[in-house]
Amino acid sequence: MLDQSFYQKTDEIIAHYGKKASSLIPIMQDIQGEYRYLPGELLTYVAKEIGVKEAKAYSVATFYENFSFEPKGKYVIKVCDGTACHVRKSAPILEALFKELGLSQKKHTTDDMLFTVETVSCLGACGLAPTLTVNNEVHPTMSPEKALELVAELRGAGV
Ligand code: FES
Repeated sequence: MLDQSFYQKTDEIIAHYGKKASSLIPIMQDIQGEYRYLPGELLTYVAKEIGVKEAKAYSVATFYENFSFEPKGKYVIKVCDGTACHVRKSAPILEALFKELGLSQKKHTTDDMLFTVETVSCLGACGLAPTLTVNNEVHPTMSPEKALELVAELRGAGV
């Protein structure tokens, strides 16, 4: 059950874009921008409010990879595992982050909601491989050591 404040915020977002089907994507983007994920309950609520079938809203949300139904951490780290990065040893970077944060391919977010670690297929910065992003900011030529330093810095900033 979501807190009432989630619905109040969602009402504001809906009012901003208007109760019409074409508002669906911008509303979902704003909700995700606010909470760093798209709670399923809110998607159901939005669909009803703007007159879109719930199944349609879900299919749109799942079509766009950018929408997430899972809560994410304050810092979303995406480790590139595209070919260029893989060749330049992105796997040990991912392993180091998983080990440091107690995460795995099945558990992506730390219990304190500070970090989410995911992989992506290419960040479009292959010349700087191996790369990772933190909340969409690119960090070039990474190593396991540099990744751990980055986590330590973010921990410092996040407390
Ligand atoms: S393969 Fe990693 S940035 Fe392209």
